Amino acid sequence: MSIIIQTLVNKGKTNLFKKLLNCSQSTCECLYSRKSSGTAKKFLSFEEVVAQRRAEARRSIVVQVNSEASFSELYGYCSKYATVNGIHHYKNTGGEHFMLIEFSSEESSKAAFQSCTTHQKDLDIMALNSPFLWFRAATGKKEIYKHSATLASVNGIEPVNEDSLFKDLINCETVSDQIQLLYDRTMLNDLGARLRYMVARQIECVLESLYANIAVRPFGSSINGFGKMGCDLDLVLTNTVTDEMCQPGRRLVYQDKRAEGGRAPWARHMQCVAELLELRVAGARRVQRILNARVPIVKFAHHYTDLECDLCYNNMSGVYMSELLWQLGSLDPRVRPLTVAVRRWAAATGLTNPHPGRWITNFPLTLMVLFFLQQKTTDGFVLPTMKSLVRRAGKEDVRVAEENLNCTFLRDMNKLPRECYAQNEASLQTLLLQFFEYYAQFDFQEKAISINEGAPIRKPNAQPLYIVNPLEQALNVSRNVSFEECERLKSEVRNAAWQLDAGLDRQKGDDWGLVGLIEQKTTRGLKKLLRAGNSHRLVSVKDLFNETDDSEPRNNLRSKLE
Ligand code: CTP
Ligand code: MG
Repeated sequence: MSIIIQTLVNKGKTNLFKKLLNCSQSTCECLYSRKSSGTAKKFLSFEEVVAQRRAEARRSIVVQVNSEASFSELYGYCSKYATVNGIHHYKNTGGEHFMLIEFSSEESSKAAFQSCTTHQKDLDIMALNSPFLWFRAATGKKEIYKHSATLASVNGIEPVNEDSLFKDLINCETVSDQIQLLYDRTMLNDLGARLRYMVARQIECVLESLYANIAVRPFGSSINGFGKMGCDLDLVLTNTVTDEMCQPGRRLVYQDKRAEGGRAPWARHMQCVAELLELRVAGARRVQRILNARVPIVKFAHHYTDLECDLCYNNMSGVYMSELLWQLGSLDPRVRPLTVAVRRWAAATGLTNPHPGRWITNFPLTLMVLFFLQQKTTDGFVLPTMKSLVRRAGKEDVRVAEENLNCTFLRDMNKLPRECYAQNEASLQTLLLQFFEYYAQFDFQEKAISINEGAPIRKPNAQPLYIVNPLEQALNVSRNVSFEECERLKSEVRNAAWQLDAGLDRQKGDDWGLVGLIEQKTTRGLKKLLRAGNSHRLVSVKDLFNETDDSEPRNNLRSKLE
């Protein structure tokens, strides 16, 4: 795999450049060369990245161990069966230790799988092939393994320490550095991505024996480049009938089993998948069936990886949407950090909320950032319009999702002329301020946001917030947003523009720059009381909530206090 790294200009970006050089190849999925003197530009395609991740998962296993100290023994034991590429250690919230082992090839991982065994002869347990295993204590004399290997990562998915994050944000030189730091510290890391593909692979393993051409893929923020550590795992199950599988010239044809019954057959299959999750997928817990929805979903928690998962069927448009977002994020290294900062700000203000409701969610919010980056600000735009990607699509880009939805757009970003993106050099600080200013004056009443057009368009109806679905332009992805929530969005972007503009100078105190924007309102209230010497008032938790108006931050604070 070849990569070319974008050359960057100012200091904040130079730090990024250094980090990119240090990061492992598998995490460098979005590098390109800008302003390089005639160097060929190279973007990896989304499909290449996904194929790499899926292959990686096929040659990996996750083994529960006693502690980090089990590494040496595990490495030595597994090396007897196959060549080990690397071992990553992590703990789940239950304090249990795990090692993700990547073997050198799928072939060699098969040898390791053949050496696996089931627990014991127990009528309640049915044998199961799964990439999630545990390492039994050695019986008899312990073997001594000599090697010089070291763990690729230790405590690899540890939650971000918020106190140290805020301390480091306060000590940054510029707001741009703060935004970059927030992104570097909180973005989904390599191990986080690997584990998401392992869960997908585990479900695939169970279903492979039931369905002929099954695939389970992550989509959404786990793979679109905007995910943070600990984000939920959206999964889609597909059962594709390939041309190869239905050749008319072949005379021996499988007898089909037609699903009879009133409800859409796939709702019934998803019911069956939910049963299988409960019965056959080790680590799957709290399985919930939401099968009467337009897109039937099975929700579950995956204990070994600490992931909250949503599994749906055949929602390939969700995958293509993730591809589109990933591509746009890969075009310029400012897109992802800026989006992550906006997502974090929205969560802190209570504009977004992990629970579904009448408020905006991260996906439409991300579209708002992308749309802003398509605008010709002072010097030029950062991102191309979706229209221009569709116009440049070739035969190889044709994709049709469920319900004949045309999801065709240019996939190979190397074919996109240089003048179509990154036409300005604005710093992250400038872009964040301009983002808030842009939406502070946006005409939400009359206009809709469309990344297809890259310019505001007339709203087709009176829904308070209108953000066109880029793949299905007749739909509004924010149709759930109420008038009150839209008003709150308008007022929060105005506040943020004002607050950021007034707090750009790091001499302004601890709340300067990004810090003031992403602090929970409740924490801010707490700090104010403490600064004013009113700590005695903290006996009443109610006092703290006087500043807040939403239940989510309150719950956060309450759990902190308890
Ligand atoms: N999606 C879509 N159309 C919508 C809503 C969602 O195509 N109206 C797709 C997008 O690809 C989105 C994915 O479904 O990224 C998952 O949706 P969601 O979980 O709501 O958003 P995420 O991007 O995953 O963000 P979060 O981190 O909040 O889960
Ligand atoms: Mg999601």
